[in-house]
Amino acid sequence: MKKLIAANWKMYKCRHDATQTIADLAAGLGRSVPADREIAVFAPFTALAASAEALAAHMPGKAVFLGAQDVYPAVEGAFTGEISPSMLLDCSCRFVLTGHSERRHLLGESREFVGEKTAFALAAGLDVVLCIGETLTEREGGRLEAVLGAQLEAGLANLPRDLEPQRLVFAYEPVWAIGTGRVAGEKEILQAHALARELVKKILPASYAKMRILYGGSVKPDNAAKIIGLDNVDGLLVGGASLQAESFAHIALA
Ligand code: 13P
Repeated sequence: MKKLIAANWKMYKCRHDATQTIADLAAGLGRSVPADREIAVFAPFTALAASAEALAAHMPGKAVFLGAQDVYPAVEGAFTGEISPSMLLDCSCRFVLTGHSERRHLLGESREFVGEKTAFALAAGLDVVLCIGETLTEREGGRLEAVLGAQLEAGLANLPRDLEPQRLVFAYEPVWAIGTGRVAGEKEILQAHALARELVKKILPASYAKMRILYGGSVKPDNAAKIIGLDNVDGLLVGGASLQAESFAHIALA
């Protein structure tokens, strides 16, 4: 299973900056990606088309893929401000994020809505990175298993039949580690990833073992190698440290 190292640019970068970062990333990667790795860049909607062009120009045929940060679960229609799977595919996206904690907590997305998006995007041909993770209060209240279980149960409702395992990726992102500089400890990551794998097994017994589980939350160049070497960690989802090409290239090659 190839490790997936993903950059989540969140609400940063206009077209020029996105294009320049991709050019710098190509230089930082030495214009090639190790055979056991895939890389993804989750750009803001307005920079997707420019990012696709930059990827084609600077890293043609390389294992660097484009992703979007959100999607609406409908083909088209009167959904002001929303974006459809076909619009993302039209911009050369392979991936989309669903269930990011910033959308769950800042924008009030329910677990059920995350599940609708996940199933719809997969059926439409996008590969999905479904994010899960607990708040500090939930962790300290002993509710890690209950929270991840509920997020996975709702997030994986109504999946398309015969889903190829590599099309669905999970990202465990403890909310208390996102953008805080407080990375989860080795024991916490091992425990949560093993738990997530067990919970997915209950829902998708035929394919859980072949699905990737990424870790996200304050990943930096100096901790990436250690985290990616842990059991059940199949890649990284990087926020702040992905904004500079140099630090993201360092993480991608860790
Ligand atoms: P940071 O790497 O900035 O903590 O963000 C993690 C994240 O939310 C990636 O999706």
